[in-house]
Amino acid sequence: MTKQAENPEFYLKKESYLSRKFDKISRKMRARYFALEGQFNGDYSSQTININWDEQPTRFDLINTLVAKHNYKKYVEIGCSTDACFKAIATEDKIGVDPFMGGTHRMTSDEFFAQNNDKFDIIFIDGLHQYEQVKRDMLNAVAALNDNGVIIVHDCLPKNYYAQLPFPSGGDWNGDVWKAFVEMRTLAHIDCAVCLIDHGLGIIKKRRSNNPLQLDTKDFLSLKFKDFMANHRIWLNVKSYDEALEFINL
Ligand SMILES: C[S@@+](CC[C@H](N)C(=O)[O-])C[C@H]1O[C@@H](n2cnc3c(N)ncnc32)[C@H](O)[C@@H]1O
Repeated sequence: MTKQAENPEFYLKKESYLSRKFDKISRKMRARYFALEGQFNGDYSSQTININWDEQPTRFDLINTLVAKHNYKKYVEIGCSTDACFKAIATEDKIGVDPFMGGTHRMTSDEFFAQNNDKFDIIFIDGLHQYEQVKRDMLNAVAALNDNGVIIVHDCLPKNYYAQLPFPSGGDWNGDVWKAFVEMRTLAHIDCAVCLIDHGLGIIKKRRSNNPLQLDTKDFLSLKFKDFMANHRIWLNVKSYDEALEFINL
């Protein structure tokens, strides 16, 4: 059974109760299968990261703090859903991209970046939580970012094995965004860290990295979750909220 590139149809709410129920059960079964397989190939970990996100500042707090501090004007959000975040952001000029709902542009992030010639101050990436897609989103966002701007990436720190599968299987779903972010950490021309709030907010600045991650692999999709659990503080360059603000202002 392949673990990747499931069609993101799960974003569309199916009309029929039975088909919704069936989808849920079949994803739960796939998740159990992967956990079992992961016990043999070293991917699975039963460990849980013990953080209560509800007690921390949110993505809105971080983004609006940066908007106010740096007088950022041009905001793009990739993946808007019900606009919970999009509505809360206090910039003059906002673009929201989502193929299914919310925002201002009814298209995928790939379509948006392909037709875009503009530059932005702050880009929030929270679309499809799968490695290949979020990696493309981050690289496209770097190309569309003003030099003094910042990229924020949701869902970089899954708290357990099930949250980081490339499809939702019940409970929080962060997908394998972490694999794409770890890859960004190995690039020397951008500087990356993860703020320990709101499911792990990745931060990308357009400047040379102080401490690029050295990992002996080119196949980041095959990274093991068990290794991530043991090394996530270094792999992600984890920062507290205050440290993250300092990192952004360097
Ligand atoms: C987790 S929700 C976004 C939540 C929102 N950013 C917030 O903070 O309230 C993810 C959204 O990404 C959208 N999405 C899925 N595939 C996408 C793609 N290829 N490009 C852009 N958005 C996508 C889904 O339709 C869904 O609404």
